[in-house]
Amino acid sequence: METKFSPDLTTTLGPISLKNPVVLASGTCGYGIELSDLVELKALGAIVVKGISLEPRPGNPPPRIIETPCGLLNAIGLENIGIDAFIEKKLPWLREQGITTIVNILGNSIDDYKRLSAILDKADGVAAIEVNISCPNVKEGGVSFGKTPEGTHAVTKAVRDETGLPLIVKLSPNVGDITVIAKAAQDAGADAVSLVNTFLAMAIDIEKKRPVLGNTFGGLSGPAIKPIALRMVWEVSRAVQIPVIGIGGITQWQDAIEFLMAGASAIQIGTGTLISPDCGKKVVDGIRDFLRQKGYKRVEELRI
Ligand SMILES: Cc1cc2nc3c(=O)[nH]c(=O)nc-3n(C[C@H](O)[C@H](O)[C@H](O)COP(=O)(O)O)c2cc1C
Repeated sequence: METKFSPDLTTTLGPISLKNPVVLASGTCGYGIELSDLVELKALGAIVVKGISLEPRPGNPPPRIIETPCGLLNAIGLENIGIDAFIEKKLPWLREQGITTIVNILGNSIDDYKRLSAILDKADGVAAIEVNISCPNVKEGGVSFGKTPEGTHAVTKAVRDETGLPLIVKLSPNVGDITVIAKAAQDAGADAVSLVNTFLAMAIDIEKKRPVLGNTFGGLSGPAIKPIALRMVWEVSRAVQIPVIGIGGITQWQDAIEFLMAGASAIQIGTGTLISPDCGKKVVDGIRDFLRQKGYKRVEELRI
């Protein structure tokens, strides 16, 4: 009698193990609870919550989000409820549901990152910290830490010194050579890197003769960026020894397989969830079916 072969979907990101490699990306699944009626969050490897800063942030002036022919342009401006409200009001629900929760953090200074990671280190229910290093650095006059290897090293080391939690550093694609930045994160103690964040972009309203977004510039995400993100994941996974999480334009399981073949140990879905909330679960099922069909026993066998 034929038995149904069941591939092992687990994946490890340094010190953490995920039940499958599919993760929802920061900023596109809120704090989990907002999606819980539409998405079976526990079926996913993990979720990354909306980027959290020390103080609550109101975000940028509207309009903050527009659709382009094959992607999304957003300038939310890192609106969030702040670390204290997150720990008090959101984290307990995530913990009770048993959802593997990765907390994305952002700050204007090294000290902000240090304080955020020290607070999260003591919180109960945080599987890992994901450090967003692509936000404006006030002290350096509006340049992101993630633009230089020195800035990346400094932020990563500061967080590493404050916490024993698994540490993922999320890279910006708006740099010259992303492998240099990834190596700086690795050297400073990151357990994994995730890439990419959005691409700096803009749109102009030709009737009103002015930029569409209230902030002029925004970040491009979705299918338009997939081939570029895939190339970066390929490059970075050959340049570093730590696991790579692939992000950028994944909306169906075939996209995820491409990233896993390029060298990613896990993938994140952002805009895909906004297009179709149950996209993540479909990607998990698609990966499982593909492995079964091709006779691969484990996700890592996909790597080229
Ligand atoms: C509306 C929106 C909000 C986002 N907010 C954050 C954020 O707070 N922190 C962060 O690191 N990335 C944020 N991102 C970037 C996504 O996590 C992801 O890196 C990017 O959208 C590329 O993936 P995708 O093409 O699957 O959307 C945001 C993206 C979108 C579309």
